[in-house]
Amino acid sequence: MENIWDNKLIHSFCRPYNNNIFFSFNIVLILVRKLQNSDLMSDILSFLYPWTLAFHIVSVISWMAGLFYLPRLFVHHVEQAKEVKGLPVVFDMMEYKLLRVIMNPAMIATWVFGLILVLTPGVVDWSMIWPWTKLFGVVGMSWFHHWLALRRKDLAAGVNTVTGRGFRIMNEVPTVLMIVIVFSVVLKF
Ligand code: HEM
Repeated sequence: MENIWDNKLIHSFCRPYNNNIFFSFNIVLILVRKLQNSDLMSDILSFLYPWTLAFHIVSVISWMAGLFYLPRLFVHHVEQAKEVKGLPVVFDMMEYKLLRVIMNPAMIATWVFGLILVLTPGVVDWSMIWPWTKLFGVVGMSWFHHWLALRRKDLAAGVNTVTGRGFRIMNEVPTVLMIVIVFSVVLKF
């Protein structure tokens, strides 16, 4: 294996005066590219596979919990909260915390561990159909997350236009996508 520390390009980036964030990012990119092609990286990823998968599943469960619950909160926010003085503020706070504290970190963790699994040798065969249906599902799920974040902002600003029925219907989107994703990864067609 080529010794990555012999690379002149890396040494030039490591000089003390090149300490801004872009140079640091470049070093990381070069290291990742070098390591990706090396046997060492493949061995590390294969060794870590059960751990990566476990962390991926934990992140997925946390993300999905929020994706199912936030639209339900929106339904009650739209249909009932206005009846009781002070309740809309409580809903705003619950929705904000669910999105920022649980769902955003869980989505990032799901993507990070999912992409590490993609890079693990022998896990994904792109000539099969399932990786593409899974990709469709996770892109759809990420879009739904983004849509919920926009609706939360609208509700907090008092400019929401979606009805309770609208949120109930949209609540089915993650269910359908979850079925597509789980059938893809388990059946591997
Ligand atoms: C966000 C981007 C995601 C990426 C890049 C990704 C990628 C992957 C990969 C490559 C695997 C390994 C498959 C194997 O071990 O054979 C996997 C496993 C799995 N993924 Fe994801 N995934 C993502 C999101 C999700 C989501 C949103 C769900 C659930 C709704 C999910 C559910 C699962 C499950 C249940 C497994 C375990 C399958 C098994 O071991 O049999 N993933 N994922």
